[in-house]
Amino acid sequence: MEKNKDGMPRRSFLKTAAAAGAAVTVAPSMAFGKNKKENKVRIGFIGIGGRGRSHLSNVLKRDDVTIPAICDIDPKAVEISLKMISKEGYPKPDVYQDGDHAYEKLLARDDIDGVIISTPWLLHTPMSVDAMKAGKYVGVEVSAATTLGECWDLVNTCEETGSPLMILENVCYRRDVMAVLNMVRQNVFGELLHARCGYRHDLREVKFSPGVEFGPGAHGEARWRTQHSLKRNADLYPTHGIGPIATMMNINYGNTFLTLTSHATKARGLHKYIVDHGGEDTPNAKLKWKLGDIVTTTINTANGETIIVTHDTNSPKPYSLDLQVQGTQGLTEFDYDKKRIYVEGKSKPHHWEGMDDWLKKYDHPLWKKYGEYAAGSGHGGMDFFVDHAFVETVKRKAQPPLDVYDAAMWSAITPLSERSLAEGNSVQYFPDFTRGNWIKRKPIFALNDEY
Ligand SMILES: NC(=O)c1ccc[n+]([C@@H]2O[C@H](COP(=O)([O-])OP(=O)(O)OC[C@H]3O[C@@H](n4cnc5c(N)ncnc54)[C@H](O)[C@@H]3O)[C@@H](O)[C@H]2O)c1
Repeated sequence: MEKNKDGMPRRSFLKTAAAAGAAVTVAPSMAFGKNKKENKVRIGFIGIGGRGRSHLSNVLKRDDVTIPAICDIDPKAVEISLKMISKEGYPKPDVYQDGDHAYEKLLARDDIDGVIISTPWLLHTPMSVDAMKAGKYVGVEVSAATTLGECWDLVNTCEETGSPLMILENVCYRRDVMAVLNMVRQNVFGELLHARCGYRHDLREVKFSPGVEFGPGAHGEARWRTQHSLKRNADLYPTHGIGPIATMMNINYGNTFLTLTSHATKARGLHKYIVDHGGEDTPNAKLKWKLGDIVTTTINTANGETIIVTHDTNSPKPYSLDLQVQGTQGLTEFDYDKKRIYVEGKSKPHHWEGMDDWLKKYDHPLWKKYGEYAAGSGHGGMDFFVDHAFVETVKRKAQPPLDVYDAAMWSAITPLSERSLAEGNSVQYFPDFTRGNWIKRKPIFALNDEY
């Protein structure tokens, strides 16, 4: 492997694109600070399971990052990660793996600027709070918090310590999502009225693995994620849907969520899966699941829009985020396999049209600049952008484009929907995590082609 003068591999996205024969105009920032030691940021990883390793592989393709330390309590996760790091020619990082609090030793180091936290949900807030107290930039996976108390812990700690926190919501960076954001900002749909979004992902084989097992000793997310479906009736995973819509509606930046109400269907899917795959007599068939199969939440905003958010993870279905955006001039429905638009004055009256030309015309400047390089990263390229944004934010000591108030506001949908369901679909009021400042905050997400 070719190395630069700091002993780091020269495997930037530039090289990948050049190998692919892409016509590349090299913008100065594209070099990601190569060869300049002072421009390298030092990133530690806490949690290097499936998701943590996806972040790791993106960071390993850059040449402006060093990785002094990693932490995971699963020896297998550590072993795989060390192999990935050595394969890319990076020096072996220090490893912290002894016990639930091993991450505190990583945080105590003074040679780490930022940490990427990709652990189970219940650890996100405690680890983020400790990281901010240790003076690190924090990139935390979704959702950032599971209770309103945790949402406030994030906000309070961020304000007290001055350590920035970014919620690593990759879907905000999906190519079609960013093109629609661009359309919204250029007034294609007129004044926004309504949006739909959600997380409609058949997770039954994730919640049970192997077979119909879950909990300690099971595989992957079945070790920790399934427990939430047993104990909570709520929208357990709102941010992939609400993140994109919140950026389009300027939530926390001149607009805010005011209230929500939630409705849930009965809980059938997980029990049926257990019986279908393990039989009536298998012990897990006795469990009573709290999570309704489909949880539907309606939010209204200070600027007078409504948003329907769906959580739907226990039934057979193809993956969908159910994205729709509607304004006074037209609307779009866009997903991986369905993209259509209707704009009054542009589209044939009363007829949907395909979106290919629209998506090309409004392709976001970030994708125009980095699309070639992003292609190899996860989830169709969007994962490149979220890690790029985090690294650039740390490098520039800037405010994260998706910040602690976004993390708190979006994550709050879980406890608020839970309370609404528990109280017979009662109206719940969102806390104002910005303490009134949403009125004057100006949007900062993806305003140009930098990050
Ligand atoms: N944005 C996305 O597209 C996306 C995709 C997948 C997962 N996620 C999120 O990423 C997070 C991690 O999910 P995953 O799929 O990687 O789960 P996973 O179970 O594969 O990995 C979690 C890792 O955390 C480690 N861990 C647990 N306790 C720890 C501790 N005390 N200290 C250090 N490490 C600890 C586990 O050993 C495991 O390796 C979750 O919040 C999930 O919702 C996001």
